[in-house]
Amino acid sequence: MPSVDEILEGREICICAGSGGVGKTTTSAAIALGMAARGLKVCVLTIDPAKRLADSLGLEELGNEATRVNPELLSDHLDNGDGELWAMMLDAKETFDALVARHAEDAEARDRVLNNRIYQQISNALAGSQEYMAMEKLFELHSEGRFDLLVLDTPPSRNVLDFLDAPKRLTQFIEGRSLQIFIRPSGFAARVAGRGTGVVLTILKRIVGFDLFADLSEFFNAFSGMVDGFRERAHRVSSLLADEQTCFVVVCGPQGEPVDEAVYFHSKLMENEMNFAGVVVNRVRYRLVSKKPKLKDLTARIEAELGDHELADQVARNLIEYDALAVRDAANIDRLTESLDNDPVIRVPYLDTDVHDIEGLTEINRYLFASEQDRNRLATG
Ligand SMILES: Nc1ncnc2c1ncn2[C@@H]1O[C@H](COP(=O)(O)OP(=O)(O)O)[C@@H](O)[C@H]1O
Ligand SMILES: [Mg+2]
Repeated sequence: MPSVDEILEGREICICAGSGGVGKTTTSAAIALGMAARGLKVCVLTIDPAKRLADSLGLEELGNEATRVNPELLSDHLDNGDGELWAMMLDAKETFDALVARHAEDAEARDRVLNNRIYQQISNALAGSQEYMAMEKLFELHSEGRFDLLVLDTPPSRNVLDFLDAPKRLTQFIEGRSLQIFIRPSGFAARVAGRGTGVVLTILKRIVGFDLFADLSEFFNAFSGMVDGFRERAHRVSSLLADEQTCFVVVCGPQGEPVDEAVYFHSKLMENEMNFAGVVVNRVRYRLVSKKPKLKDLTARIEAELGDHELADQVARNLIEYDALAVRDAANIDRLTESLDNDPVIRVPYLDTDVHDIEGLTEINRYLFASEQDRNRLATG
C-alpha cells in the first residue's frame, strides 16, 4: 500500500472529502505538514478547525488570507529545508464578497451589491455556497501559483455531490428563473408595477420591515452585470476539479456506516471522472492480541500484575470489548479495500490523545507517510 507522498506525486491540489467528525480537518492539516516536511510549499485551506489546532497553526486572528505557520514551530519537522507550511481558514462570505468585487463593473456596482440586504442573506444562505466558495478560493490560490500543493479540507457535507455540483448550482441560480424575473425589464417587476399591486407591496414592506421588492430588484439588476463573469468562472472552477493536477482523498472512520459512505463517495467520484487518490481510514482500533482472550485467563494474568482482582476484572473486560471493536474495524476495512479495487486504503490508528498541535499531526504522519509494513508494525508493536 502506498503512502500519502506517493499517492500525491505530481498533484497540485488534494481535496479531502468525507462526512464531518471523522478527522477530516486533522487529516488535511497532517497531509499538508507532511508534504511541507518533504520540501514543498504547501497551503492547507481549512474549515472550522478545533480551536487548539487553529491556535497551533497560528490561525487565531486571521481573515480569509493564507498565513505562514511559524517556521520555528516546524524546524524539527522539516527534513528538507525548502518546505513551507501555510494555512488559511476559509470564510465563505468574504470569498463571495471578493468575487462580487472582481466581477463588478465599477466600485459603485460593487457596493450596490455588497450593501444590499438580499445579497447579505443570499451570500450566507445560498445552497452550496460554502462548497462553492471553498473551491473558488482554491481556484484563486491555484491561479496565483504561489504554492506547490494546496490541501482543501472540505465543508462537512453529507454528500460529496454537494461539492461537485456546487459550481453548477451557482450558475443555475444565477441563470435561473428567480433571477430572470427581476432582471428582464418586461418581467415580473414591470408587470406587477403595471397592475397597480402597490397595496400588496406596501403590506409586504410593512411585514418585512424594509422594501423587499426594491431590494430584490436592485440586487438582481446589479448582479445581472456579473452573470457572465460568474458563469465563466464557475466553469473554470469545475474544470480544475476534474484536472490531472487535482485529486481526491476520502477520509472516513472505521465503523460500518462511515465505510459505506466512503464506498459511496468513491463510486460518485469515479462516476464524475474525478481523480481518486485513496481513502484514509482514521481512528482505527488495532488488535492488541492475536486471538480473542478468555476473560478468566486474562483477568488472572492482569491480577498478577496489579494485585487487585476487581480492577483486573474491569481491565480485562475493557480489553475484550476493545478487541471486539478492533476485529470489527478490520472487517470493515477489508470490505472497503475490496470495494475500491486497487485504490489505496491508508489506516491511521486511534491515538491516545486528541490531535491539536504540530506534534500531534506529526504523530498522525508516522502512519500517513509510512509504508504499509511500517504502519502495521507501529500500530501493533
Ligand atoms: N487518529 C486520531 N486519534 C485520536 N484523535 C483524533 C484522531 N484524528 C482526529 N482526532 C480528534 O478527533 C476530533 C475531530 O477531528 P477533526 O479533524 O476536527 O474532525 P472533522 O474535521 O472530520 O470534523 C478532534 O478533536 C481531533 O483531535
Ligand atoms: Mg473539520
